[in-house]
Amino acid sequence: MTAPAPATPVALGTGPAPALEIRDLVVRYGRGRKARQAPPAIDGVSFDIMPGETLGLVGESGSGKSTIGKAVLGLQPPTAGTVRLHGQDITHMPLKQRSRQVADLRVVFQDPYSSLNPARTIGKTLVEPLRLMGVTGREALAKARSGLESVGLPGDAVDRYPAQFSGGQRQRIAIARALVCDPKVVVLDEPVSALDLSTQAQVLNLLADLRDQRGLAFLFIAHDLGVVRFLSQRTVVLYRGQVMETGPVDAVALAPRHPYTVALTSAAPVPRPAEQAARRAAREALGMGTAGTAQASATGCPFVPRCPLSTDVCVEQRPPLRRLDATLAACHHAERVPAR
Ligand SMILES: Nc1ncnc2c1ncn2[C@@H]1O[C@H](COP(=O)(O)OP(=O)(O)O)[C@@H](O)[C@H]1O
Ligand code: SF4
Ligand SMILES: [Mg+2]
Repeated sequence: MTAPAPATPVALGTGPAPALEIRDLVVRYGRGRKARQAPPAIDGVSFDIMPGETLGLVGESGSGKSTIGKAVLGLQPPTAGTVRLHGQDITHMPLKQRSRQVADLRVVFQDPYSSLNPARTIGKTLVEPLRLMGVTGREALAKARSGLESVGLPGDAVDRYPAQFSGGQRQRIAIARALVCDPKVVVLDEPVSALDLSTQAQVLNLLADLRDQRGLAFLFIAHDLGVVRFLSQRTVVLYRGQVMETGPVDAVALAPRHPYTVALTSAAPVPRPAEQAARRAAREALGMGTAGTAQASATGCPFVPRCPLSTDVCVEQRPPLRRLDATLAACHHAERVPAR
């Protein structure tokens, strides 16, 4: 059985209407009784992203980050919950209708090698989404060229094929394709994970510049909190399809209140030795790695088997998200997490 989702929407911004609203999202893969009995891949996730804002969705592999991205994009139908784009409910809008109507929402995937069709010129790849929006001929080609220039590539790249470009250049092409229809919201699913470190930095800087110039809202998915911190204002930490902690990215990264976030932050390498030492000390103070052997239950906290602070209440009751200093954390014993 699925525990009830938190009644209060999380990670709420302030000011104007959100660009993207996710409410009580549940996603189950598969069909039949077996699938219904398995824990859902996403279990009651809510967040907002404001225009011009970047929300970093972080968690280890298999935590459900891409599933949320796919549900937002209409590539995986949610079992429950809603997805709204500028207030419009698009949860169940068919893909065909989306490609014509929802120019405001685009995606960049992780792998720049498989996400571009090798048999198509770059020009054809960039013109295709424009054609679906009714922009054709010279106008479309001019937009494709200026799109390439806006990501630092020459306009005449329209005549070339993906194989003629490096991984970093292909990711720039994928970004140009995502932005050619002038969207307002972009899902970036691990857009730099396949790139080497110096190329990562260039692509992250490019994304930050494009966001600031165009007022884009990003749902930025990554497994590395350091990468998320570079680009995001707020972050949502996901574990087994549930939100563990959320808040301003610096508060979550530097002063986490959830044991899982402590584990996540202390596992990620940082270039500053003092910060690295503080993280190691926090992890050791919490007793991470010496967790008990209690099993997680469907109605309790999913982190039980790995958590050194777990008690009976953690096994029995799913902790709601609640405010702790600058962040919201879903933990019964967050007060016992050593402050940094
Ligand atoms: N197409 C699918 N069919 C069945 N299970 C899936 C599918 N895609 C992902 N999952 C499962 O859903 C969970 C979340 O996966 P995913 O969203 O890809 O995580 P992440 O992007 O954080 O690595 C994992 O347990 C994964 O095995
Ligand atoms: S609720 Fe319990 S098991 Fe879950 S993270 Fe907090 S202390 Fe650990
Ligand atoms: Mg993924």
